[in-house]
Formats: sequence, structure tokens, C-alpha cells
Amino acid sequence: MEERVTFGSKIGIILATAGSAVGLGNVWRFPYMTGQNGGAAFILAYLGCVLILGLPCIISEFIIGRRGAANTARAYSNMARGRAWKFIGYLGVLTGFLITGYYAVVAGWCLQYMFASVSGALRGDAAFVSRYFTSYTHSTWLPVLTTLLILLCTHGIVLRGVKGGIERASKYMMPLLFLFLIVIVVASCSLSGAWKGVEFLLHPDFSKLTGDVFLGALGQSFYSLSIGMGCICTYASYYSKDTNLLKSAVQVSLVDTLVAVLAGLMIFPAAFSVGVNPDSGPALIFITLPNVFNEAFSAMPGVGPLVAFMFYGLLSMAALTSLISLHEVSTAFVVEELDMSRKKATVGVTLGTWLLGTLCSLSLGGAAGLTLWGKSLFDVFDYVTGQLFLPIGGFLTCLFLGWFVPKTWVYEEFTNRGTVWRSMFPVYLFLLRFVCPVAILTIFLKQQGCF
Ligand code: TRP
Repeated sequence: MEERVTFGSKIGIILATAGSAVGLGNVWRFPYMTGQNGGAAFILAYLGCVLILGLPCIISEFIIGRRGAANTARAYSNMARGRAWKFIGYLGVLTGFLITGYYAVVAGWCLQYMFASVSGALRGDAAFVSRYFTSYTHSTWLPVLTTLLILLCTHGIVLRGVKGGIERASKYMMPLLFLFLIVIVVASCSLSGAWKGVEFLLHPDFSKLTGDVFLGALGQSFYSLSIGMGCICTYASYYSKDTNLLKSAVQVSLVDTLVAVLAGLMIFPAAFSVGVNPDSGPALIFITLPNVFNEAFSAMPGVGPLVAFMFYGLLSMAALTSLISLHEVSTAFVVEELDMSRKKATVGVTLGTWLLGTLCSLSLGGAAGLTLWGKSLFDVFDYVTGQLFLPIGGFLTCLFLGWFVPKTWVYEEFTNRGTVWRSMFPVYLFLLRFVCPVAILTIFLKQQGCF
């Protein structure tokens, strides 16, 4: 058998995997969830979830990916010798494909907002910015075009392969993303009245820690760490035999959490400084923020649009590195299962996801009738993947690895054949076998309204 390609360096591994994790989930979803769920208390719950559930789940995907050494579907069947478990892999590929469809649409909006913030199209009062968002997302051609644009960027990177494409792109984009983030955090925190925003983020009010807040934090941690559909698993199939899995998982989670908290420090101080409440939900980034930037920096001509440009630029980059990982799940699958060249497979996946993205985008208003069960396709994909497929995938993965894969294999991978972290193995196994499945099942049933 041919030697499988691997990432070229340790830092490349961390940056690529963190690139998958850091995305719209950190900069868009995390801040609005924090805003709606009481600030610092939510963040504490989130940290707990990452530590107790996120880490073991990432490590599990690392183990399946590296040991299975193939695309997600085959990795599962390699470890289970062709039994029905490979369907978790198929489910993962399908989930990844569907997520790419709507994720690319939102990533396209970020690109559009990047241009709009410097062209002056976003200048106006709050009502104007809100109308801009509705008329843009409901229009027919422009969002479809921006979706294509971001998918073409993704395509160009995935086409160049694991080392020359994915790893190299992550090495450039992740540091740049950090730089933009820091600049905006500093600008935002130096506004007058910004302190209230910082306090909202860092000063916990424990009376706000309800069961719902915990469940929200749990869902967010899975989404943010890209768990449950084989993204991490596919990347791990390119890890080398001596990659330290526990350490890498900790590093990736740290970077991911840091970006989420910094995203909060970028948004809330600016919002509080102009007296805007941060609990506006998903619209926070596209409707509330442009105006916050306009107003907060109104005393300094040109700074508002520049900050907005950097903000949407960093959002586009974060989305792009996640899109690459989602695209790679399907591409690796097509290359290996349908025996196609990487080039053909990449073209196929890009076209397929663009078609899906186009349908999603049009379903928001550009074309009538693109609905299922009375919801737009956009919402259906979001719901089906986020609320159904991801938890099911995560749950089955824990059961699979915890109970059905030979324990010696899990041990060998976790400890790199007995050389590292031996004493942590029982802790990991306990979390994997008992804590994770029960917790995931609980959020799942809760979300389905079972209790
Ligand atoms: N984690 C990414 C984010 O925070 C999104 C993402 C990429 C994702 N791949 C995923 C989410 C796989 C769930 C599953 O934006």
C-alpha cells in the first residue's frame, strides 16, 4: 500500500486542525450565545464542557483517523472490520457535505460585508443596516456569487493537497487572523465605556447558570471544535505516528477557546460603549455590529470602516479554514472510495457544494418554494446537521471507540504505543465510555423536546 501523505510539521498539524475548529462558530455563534446566556457564566460552563467532553471527543476522532488511516467512512470500517459501523463514517461525509452548503453561504456574506464596509455601502443608521442585510440575503444573484467566490478559494487550496494546500494556507491565515483579532480587541477595549463589556464577559453571575445554559454550552463546544462528523478524523489521518494526541487536542482546544473569548472581547466592549445590548441572537454580527463600528469610531474618520473591513476579513478567513476541512472530508472520500484523481474529486465536490449552497441561498427569499416542512432549505440544513446528525455522529463515535474497538488499539494510539500519557488513559477511557455518551444523549433528547 502507498504511504499515506502526512502534514509536514507539528505546528502545521496544530494550525490546520485549529483552522478547522476556529470558524464562524467562534466569531459569530459563540458571541451571540454568550450574549443571550448571561455572559461570563456561560463562558465558564463552556470551558467545563470543553475540558470534560470536548477533549475526549477530539482525541477519539484523532484515534480513529490516525489508526484507520483513510477517509472517514473507510477509517471506521478499517477499525471495525466491515461491520455496520462504517455508516457512522457515511453519515459524517453526508453531514460535512450538507454543512458545507450552508456554511459557504454565510462565509460568502462575510466576503460581501468585507467589501461593503470599505465601499461605504454599510454607512447609515441601524434601520438602514438592517434593511441592507435583508435585501442582500434575500436577493437572487449576489449571494450565490459570493458563495461561489468563497468556494473557489476553498477549491484552490484543497486542490493543492494536504501539505502544499491545506497546511500552507493554515500557516498563513491563522497568524493573520490572530493579528487582526488583537488589533480589533485593542481598538474595541480602548473605547470609552468599553469596560462594561469586559465585565460582562469576565465577571460571572452564577445565578444565571441554568440547565439550559449548560446545554447551550455543550452544543456550542461540539460545534466549535468541529466534533461529530469526521472533520477532525480526516485531518488526523494525515498525522504522523508520533504526533502526541492528547497534547495536540489540548493545544487545538486552547487556540479555539482563546479565539472565541477574544471574539467576545472584540464585540462586547464596542457594543456596550454605544449602549447596544448584545443579546440580539444570530443577527448580532450582520445587523447590530456594522452600526456599532460606525458609531463607536465616529470620532475618528476612516477608522470605523477599517475596523469593519478587518473584522469581516478575519471572519472570512476563519470561515475559509473551516470550509477547507469540510471540503476535504468529501474530497478524501471521493478520491479513495470512487477511485478518482484528486483534481476530479475536488471539482466534483466544489460543484456539488455550490449547487447545494445556491439552493440554500435562494431558499432565503431569492426563489420561492425552496422549503421543506415549512422551513427554508437553509434552516433545514442547519437544523438537520447541527441538531440531529452531529449529536448522533458524536454519540455513536463514543460508543464505537469506547465499547467496540479493541481496547489495546485505543491504548496504543492514545499513548503512542505506551510512550506517553499512560497514566491519563483510564481517565480518558472513563470519560469516553460513560460521561460523553450520557451527556451527548442528554442534550440530544433535550433539544428534541423529550424533557
Ligand atoms: N468548527 C467550525 C466553527 O466553529 C465549524 C465546523 C467545521 C464544524 N467543521 C465542522 C462544525 C464539523 C461541526 C462539525 O465554525
